[in-house]
Amino acid sequence: MEYNRHELPKLADKLKTSRNLSKDEWIYLISNRTPELAEYLFSLAREERHRHYGHDVYIRGLIEFTNYCRNDCLYCGIRKSNSHAVRYRLTEEDILSCCRTGYESGFHTFVLQGGEDGYYTDEKLARMIRRIKSLYPDCALTLSVGERSCDSYRLLFEAGADRYLLRHETYNTRHYSMLHPPTLTAAARQECLWNLKKIGYQVGTGFMVGSPYQTAEHLAEDMLFIKELNPQMVGIGPFISHCRTPFADRESGALELTLFMLALLRLMLPRVLLPATTALGTIDPRGRELGILAGANVVMPNLSPADVRKDYMLYDNKLCTGEESAECRRSLEKRMESIGYHVITARGDSLN
Ligand code: 5AD
Repeated sequence: MEYNRHELPKLADKLKTSRNLSKDEWIYLISNRTPELAEYLFSLAREERHRHYGHDVYIRGLIEFTNYCRNDCLYCGIRKSNSHAVRYRLTEEDILSCCRTGYESGFHTFVLQGGEDGYYTDEKLARMIRRIKSLYPDCALTLSVGERSCDSYRLLFEAGADRYLLRHETYNTRHYSMLHPPTLTAAARQECLWNLKKIGYQVGTGFMVGSPYQTAEHLAEDMLFIKELNPQMVGIGPFISHCRTPFADRESGALELTLFMLALLRLMLPRVLLPATTALGTIDPRGRELGILAGANVVMPNLSPADVRKDYMLYDNKLCTGEESAECRRSLEKRMESIGYHVITARGDSLN
């Protein structure tokens, strides 16, 4: 390796100029990071973010419309075999009412997120998409409903969905299989992402930071995959254990490493949309502000009806009252103003 510890900033500069690093360089940068290097990266990341997106923070209204899920991901609180989860499904009218509330408070993107729930057939989802898009033609509609066939993705796109969020979770095949049941594979996941891109969606992918068994090499592979996919959005957040999963006793991912990865993503894909996620806000009360200061430019307040929010528990202590919710847009705005940023209501399409 041609770099020694004193030359870490050079590697950061190289990332800034060439927008990419080799696998070994990613590993080196991630595993030898220091607080000083992190500060330097954050300042570079903010520069990039200001160049392309100024001090604007985009908001997305998140509607968690079903917590039924056919999958059994080992980390996830709404996994099929968690019999303690209280399951719910919002009706079409419920969802439309969330959109109405959101629209009235200025949201121009709705994110329909749910577990992989067989109840929501293509027909039901397409009908809902058409209704939302005809009522709110000036809004973007984002889907986050997991793995489906290419035909299904196409049908939902034709019904009017604009964007799709599907985290790849981890690129590495072996690591993927340690986090998921044998029915799910890294290859199938990645194929979905390529299909979504081909169809014409604005695509978001991402991964958990500090998930069980994760190494710097895995993170390096995630960066290389994201560079190749070149998505419009990247959502990352710390892994947080959930008491009713096989990973109940695992340590959570670190705030510090999550912020570091956010800054690396901003430097690798300067125009990408990068949310400061709920998980980041959950592990630290100032997590989302720190995320913005590390290069993030999106926040996703919850628009789901208050009484079901506690049931969409992907991990323990997930924020579900107060400032992550749409009612508290004012306080979210204040938080952002306090660090020199402002929430804006534009659709906020990706420049990437
Ligand atoms: N900790 C952090 N993030 C989680 N997700 C699911 N379970 C957890 C957890 N325990 C993330 C996954 C998924 C997204 C909707 O939530 O990355 O893609």
